[in-house]
Amino acid sequence: MKRVVYAKRGGLDAIEIIEEEAPLPEKNEVLIEVHRAGINFADLMMRQGLYGAAPDFPFTPGYEVSGIVRAVGKEVQSHAIGDRVVALTGFGGYAEQVVVAQERAWTLPDNVSFDSAAAMPVTYLTAHHMLVYLGNFREGDSVLVHHAAGGVGTATAQIVKALNGGTIYGTASAKKAKFVKEMGMIHIPRGEDFVQRIKADSEGVHHALDPVGGKHVMESYKALRNGGRLYVFGASSAVKGPKRSLWKAIKMWRSTPRFDPIRMMNSNKSVYGVHMGMWKDESVAREQMLALAKMLENGQINPVVDSVYRFEDVAKAQQFIHDGGNRGKVLLDFSPK
Ligand SMILES: NC(=O)c1ccc[n+]([C@@H]2O[C@H](COP(=O)([O-])OP(=O)(O)OC[C@H]3O[C@@H](n4cnc5c(N)ncnc54)[C@H](OP(=O)(O)O)[C@@H]3O)[C@@H](O)[C@H]2O)c1
Repeated sequence: MKRVVYAKRGGLDAIEIIEEEAPLPEKNEVLIEVHRAGINFADLMMRQGLYGAAPDFPFTPGYEVSGIVRAVGKEVQSHAIGDRVVALTGFGGYAEQVVVAQERAWTLPDNVSFDSAAAMPVTYLTAHHMLVYLGNFREGDSVLVHHAAGGVGTATAQIVKALNGGTIYGTASAKKAKFVKEMGMIHIPRGEDFVQRIKADSEGVHHALDPVGGKHVMESYKALRNGGRLYVFGASSAVKGPKRSLWKAIKMWRSTPRFDPIRMMNSNKSVYGVHMGMWKDESVAREQMLALAKMLENGQINPVVDSVYRFEDVAKAQQFIHDGGNRGKVLLDFSPK
């Protein structure tokens, strides 16, 4: 089987494809023939060595896959050979075959495609975890989300809509204005003063989702109303194109605010740090995945897939995301030809 490897820290030239024997499932594991693997922004950051939770080089990225179970371990009860599944892989999803623990794979309903399934786990779980598990989301709540046209951005818009939320403000580059509006959000062009725009309409938002980092975090905090919640869940401002820029990363780190709990107390604002890759309580994640699977089956959410690249074109796919081209999710096609 073939597997994508980040051979070393670096640009797109650090990506290699190797050939090796397929893995065998242990007693509690299933072997999945991968049809689609999701690309996440974190995959780009870990290639550049800017991601704390990544394994040592060389390694295979890929948090999420959809495909068909081709072998099961002796003690597996929840899945059988031939099942269509979606799975959270931790790492290693950019491969023709991958093994995962049986409880990290979910059987797909017939009406859910491999595309929709692979586009769902990381982005929807992250958005759901912030708004619902941490944020105690209530009907009518307003939301600010950055990278609004991307994976987490579109997932957020759909989840808020499904929960009968209120206004959603989405920042994204100007060329994506139409798409962001079609997703039901008020578009604010990236780089414009979103605090002023939001405060012109209301006291501020109930929830602000910030994956940008640096001084941007304080702006998101200012966009909150009394009682509002800020989720800091990324550091995209540390990235500048496919090559690593240490200067950008240091600038992001140094300009990230350190919050004063007394001032937070007086304004009743909360700040959450969120990293699903380092979330420890599997049962909480699993419960949320089941809730999302139900929403997917009922058509309450419907992942937006921008494009699907053959895995041999993984560098092109990642370049497309570096260029900010995607509207929704970008996937890799590993299906057998
Ligand atoms: N903590 C967690 O558990 C967790 C989980 C999932 C995702 N995240 C974070 O959430 C963010 C979104 O992730 P995603 O996978 O859904 O990606 P995504 O939003 O689909 O990523 C690409 C989009 O981000 C915007 N962008 C902003 N800064 C950028 C930069 N420096 N380089 C390229 N694009 C940039 C671009 O849109 P515009 O130009 O239109 O703004 C681009 O189209 C990322 O920061 C990611 O690390 C965190």
